[in-house]
Amino acid sequence: MLPSESTERETQKLRDDYYATVIDSVGDGVIVISSSGLITLCNPAAEEITGFSRKQAQGASFNTLFALETTLLQMVSKTIHTGITISDHENVVVRSTGRVTPVAATCYPLLEGSGENIGAILTLKDITYIRELEAAVRQADRLSTLGTLAAGLAHEVKNPLGGIKGAAQLLEREFDPNSEMLDYTRVMIRETERIDHIIRELLELASPRGLRLAPVNLHKILGDILLLQGQAVAGRTISFCKHFDPSIPDIMADEEMLTRLFLNLIRNAIDAMGNHGSLTVSSRVLGDFRMAQNQRRSRMVAIEVSDDGPGIPAQDLENIWTPFYSTKSSGTGLGLTICHKIVAEHRGMIKVESTTGHGTKFTVLLPLIQ
Ligand SMILES: Nc1ncnc2c1ncn2[C@@H]1O[C@H](COP(=O)(O)OP(=O)(O)OP(=O)(O)O)[C@@H](O)[C@H]1O
Ligand SMILES: [Mg+2]
Repeated sequence: MLPSESTERETQKLRDDYYATVIDSVGDGVIVISSSGLITLCNPAAEEITGFSRKQAQGASFNTLFALETTLLQMVSKTIHTGITISDHENVVVRSTGRVTPVAATCYPLLEGSGENIGAILTLKDITYIRELEAAVRQADRLSTLGTLAAGLAHEVKNPLGGIKGAAQLLEREFDPNSEMLDYTRVMIRETERIDHIIRELLELASPRGLRLAPVNLHKILGDILLLQGQAVAGRTISFCKHFDPSIPDIMADEEMLTRLFLNLIRNAIDAMGNHGSLTVSSRVLGDFRMAQNQRRSRMVAIEVSDDGPGIPAQDLENIWTPFYSTKSSGTGLGLTICHKIVAEHRGMIKVESTTGHGTKFTVLLPLIQ
């Protein structure tokens, strides 16, 4: 072999390695398909989105591997045959991993120096977070309309309610201390107080009092709640488990509101479990989390409250945030609406995952601002 030939090969190999590193470093999935429909290249991001390893994918037929993804098949086939670029940011999902991942897909023609079309390059961008965010915005919209409506109603009810309570109290004084009638007036007063409590919560929901920000130790709040709730569940076989990341610093937040938030979530979990169960509260830091596409990346703290209770049926999951949605005989159904609002005011996110028969997990993401 001539020396110049071997140097040329080395240079070519260096160049190939360089291109491979570039493609592997792209954060979006990249899949290259030859004009005969075989996959010639697949980067790590594509492996993660599709669930197929590079070994499985490279050399395989695109149509066979992605037989379920009709939109992708059509895009690739069209690009290979016509040489045009096609994008679809709305309708594409990838199901091969067993879960449904929404993706923004673009298919570019792979052109040789001579301009000949020799295949297609498919890029896939995981847009799960964008979809979640869109859903959160829609939900916030719906909740704020409902909140305004409910607050209007609360205002209307507040005054007559005061009148009823006052009248019941007057009546109470009229009766003999041993009169049976006192049982009725007591029920009237107790029930008007219950309505009054709901109304106060509703009004607070509609008129933000503003955050009182100060450094907050999340683990102390959670520890204190668990300590108190531990006494409340005495006599039941409910165990509490804490997995706290000790490196989480104090964050700037409203302590009273966060206490209310976690108390609601923990109480809900305890209510759901009945007499037996285990509740786990954990915390961790999510680095590099981007709330919206154009927002700068920031760190978030994730707090998870999970229980092994009966879970929430899939068709009810959307309703749990709605004011007055409750499956409990004595619940007001405002707990989670308030949680949603507290998290939104802290510019965080709250999500729920639940499997009937296995349990429920609420995840609260809060910005790690010190
Ligand atoms: N961890 C959980 N497991 C199962 N179901 C839950 C859980 N958390 C909430 N839910 C469901 O969501 C509903 C709404 O919860 P929310 O906290 O808003 O109201 P509530 O607990 O019924 O009443 P309250 O206003 O007193 O909190 C509950 O009634 C319950 O059906
Ligand atoms: Mg509740």
